[in-house]
Amino acid sequence: MALLKVLLLLLLGLGVSVNSDVSLQKRIIGGYDCHATERLYHVRVESSNGTHLHHCGGSLIHSWWILTAAHCWAFEPGWTNEIVINVHPRTAGEQRRMIQQAPVIYTQGGQQHDIMLLALERSITDVPLAPLPDCRHKIRVGHVVQLAGEGATTTGPNNQRLPPGAAIPPHLQCVDMRVVRTSLNVPTRGHVLYAAAPNKDICYGDPGGAAMHNHMIYGVISLGGANACESPVTILNVCEYKDWIRTTLGIH
Ligand SMILES: *[C@@H]1O[C@H](CO)[C@@H](O)[C@H](O)[C@H]1NC(C)=O
Repeated sequence: MALLKVLLLLLLGLGVSVNSDVSLQKRIIGGYDCHATERLYHVRVESSNGTHLHHCGGSLIHSWWILTAAHCWAFEPGWTNEIVINVHPRTAGEQRRMIQQAPVIYTQGGQQHDIMLLALERSITDVPLAPLPDCRHKIRVGHVVQLAGEGATTTGPNNQRLPPGAAIPPHLQCVDMRVVRTSLNVPTRGHVLYAAAPNKDICYGDPGGAAMHNHMIYGVISLGGANACESPVTILNVCEYKDWIRTTLGIH
């Protein structure tokens, strides 16, 4: 526990130092338009109660299943959740899909981790899947991960995060970051790694999306820093959940 606190303090310190030389205007923030032929598996998880809308990213990892962050699901009464596919490239034409059953959230010792599987009501057979990682080759500090999302690309006054539900950018944004820490088990979040890059960050709307390495989904974006889009980004380490994913999907 003491060790964990020290690590968290170190991470907070890193977040601040990375943040201090960040240009606050462009922050996915600091990314680029994802190539039209990649990330076709990227989906939007959209939650609405009629007047308010939140969105997250997610990835099609099987013709029936989406992998995303658990906090992306709105459980409160009055809220509905939907999957939007073909969000990238935009020319593909968005399509809405319903979830077939309750979300499956990874739970260990009564504690939920921020990783979730959603079963679709109908299978999707015409969209390339995000390949699961090859966990014989673990992700390490220094490796580059590519994140993507439809979160805000700017921050508000005083570097405040734009509120959830900010306008969706016209093009899916990609950003490359370096892994700065791995192998942490953070209470209430799960097995995570951290990634950062100067002048680059994520915002509301980006969690749930994939952190890709060698064209495989090694991570699921969980959240940015406590303040406006501050680095490093917390990412669920998919290799720690691969057995659970395979069991849930019925892959043997
Ligand atoms: C939707 O949620 C927001 C924020 O929680 C709340 O302010 C609003 O009144 C809700 N709308 C409806 C129709 O319940």
